[in-house]
Amino acid sequence: MNYSVALVPGDGIGPEVTAKAVDVLDLVGDKFGHIFNFVELEAGGLAIDSTGEPLPASTLEAAKHCDALLLGAVGGPKWENLPGSMRPERALLGLRAGLGVFANLRPAALLPQLRDACPLKDEVLAASHVEGKPTFDLLIVRELTGGIYFGERGRDGDGRSPGSTAFDTERYSRAEIERVLRVAYDAAARRRSRLCLVDKANVLESSRFWREITAEMAGEYKNIETSYMYVDNCAMQLVRAPGQFDVIVTSNIFGDILSDEASVLTGSIGMLASASIGAKETDRRYPSGMYEPIHGSAPDIAGKDIANPLAAILSAAMMLRYSFSLEKEARAVEASVNGALDMGLRTKDIAGRTAGCAAERIVGTNEMAAAVIKALENQG
Ligand code: IPM
Ligand code: MG
Repeated sequence: MNYSVALVPGDGIGPEVTAKAVDVLDLVGDKFGHIFNFVELEAGGLAIDSTGEPLPASTLEAAKHCDALLLGAVGGPKWENLPGSMRPERALLGLRAGLGVFANLRPAALLPQLRDACPLKDEVLAASHVEGKPTFDLLIVRELTGGIYFGERGRDGDGRSPGSTAFDTERYSRAEIERVLRVAYDAAARRRSRLCLVDKANVLESSRFWREITAEMAGEYKNIETSYMYVDNCAMQLVRAPGQFDVIVTSNIFGDILSDEASVLTGSIGMLASASIGAKETDRRYPSGMYEPIHGSAPDIAGKDIANPLAAILSAAMMLRYSFSLEKEARAVEASVNGALDMGLRTKDIAGRTAGCAAERIVGTNEMAAAVIKALENQG
């Protein structure tokens, strides 16, 4: 099959890590008989410099015509002082809304090879179980195109002093909540069949609405165990006993915050991939998908052959799975990443901090990606 992939390398370490994901996809194509056509597009700081806008209309239009989008990262100090609507990050929000990718899947699992990079103490991890093993393996499903990040906002005054207050609005429709819940329930059905709605229903009306709708839907998904947790408690439970979670489904802002917290537990934000997916269509599982590492542009290490390419490579694996339904290929890529880690290769961000890691070797972006490619070549 032929697939067209919009490629937005972006800023900072974006270009160097997406280049590695492209190499991996090219090899997947050779091995499994697919063709991936890449359409390179500008967004973020790079686009601001060349066109004056973070998300040129031509970029969004071209992306809509592709089967999926792979993004590196956007942003950097150069553009930090621009007004909110002109910042590189607007490109992400614009792409998410423009492509209609309303559900953001952020897996966070502890790989045994990276135990020493995980900041949790042995006692904490020992108390956290997944299928009898002391570890964690969770998936945050974050609503991505609604809520306070997209709601009405502005500045007004108290009547006497204009501009003395500012506001943002959390607003969700039933339809927005239902569609992301469906994605989360589907994901739970393919995992360990547990779903936890995280909200602030003791205070927020919008959260009570999420709960009501979840309770209704729970009746439809009888094989999934549904539970509810307040977001402040969840922030605590994630560092106390992360093994209790399978799928967490939550609003845009809570998902943003909790997914950063969860990522740190895995040892490195440099390992974490994400998928943002839209509505289901009959011919494909999730037609419009956007895939990106969650680590950001890390301008301080850009261009130095230091960045961890694994999150970008794992994002490409998620693209194979969710946009193209190429499960075997996705697993082959994931196994190759495991293979490189098994060989003891570590980028700086995932290097062990304890004495027992003599077999580890610190490598750069190029060497890490080369090891993944080699592992993929050597697979049956
Ligand atoms: C993320 C990022 C973005 C978000 C920012 C850069 C707009 O933090 O993908 O989590 O909040 O969605
Ligand atoms: Mg974030």
